[in-house]
Amino acid sequence: MNPAPLRGIRACVFDAYGTLFDYASAVMACRDLLGDKLHPLNALWREKQLQYTWLRALQGRHADFWTVTADALDFALETLGLAEPGLRDRLMNLYLTLEAFAEVPAVLARLKTAGLKTAILSNGYPTMLQSAVDHARIGPLLDAVLSVEEVGVYKPHPKVYQLAVERLGIERSAISFQSSNAWDAYAASAFGMRVVWCNRYHQCPERLPGKPDYEVNSLAELPALIAVP
Ligand code: LAC
Repeated sequence: MNPAPLRGIRACVFDAYGTLFDYASAVMACRDLLGDKLHPLNALWREKQLQYTWLRALQGRHADFWTVTADALDFALETLGLAEPGLRDRLMNLYLTLEAFAEVPAVLARLKTAGLKTAILSNGYPTMLQSAVDHARIGPLLDAVLSVEEVGVYKPHPKVYQLAVERLGIERSAISFQSSNAWDAYAASAFGMRVVWCNRYHQCPERLPGKPDYEVNSLAELPALIAVP
């Protein structure tokens, strides 16, 4: 049975890392050096990166996402005893050219053809985001690339979701927000956006405020959920 589509949506706003862009593509490109530490490094780097965003937000000590990403990588490399020369710089550079998930260009094109606005709303530093967007050649399919740098605090602070409302000029209930990060999806829902949780990583539901309207495994399912012909 097809679920009832969301009605009245005027914009689709996307999280970046893990939702549009596959952060695992950085470690995958270094599989020659990482061997069986590839997956542990990928998981610990990401986990630490997110923890640092939350901890810095709580402390009121913002540092940009490039810095936080590098700090998290240093922690993960040291924890796993990975000290190959050049590995750190190679991984950081790869973060600028992460692969987009396969369905992303076609989904964005379909949403735009249907007259919806599309945007990224991400923790990423503006130049990091622009680099990934350019690499994936999806710039023409996006109306805005919004970074938390404009508000100086990380997700899930409500100021971040409010930034999308203000910059797009669209009320929160007419925005569909997509994230693969369950905590991000729940926070956007608690803020008042409609939410499609792209549960690529098969996470369990969060015990946090909010409730995503839909859960999917790929963004390919999105157009049907917001009544795009
Ligand atoms: C982002 C992280 C949370 O792009 O994935 O904001």
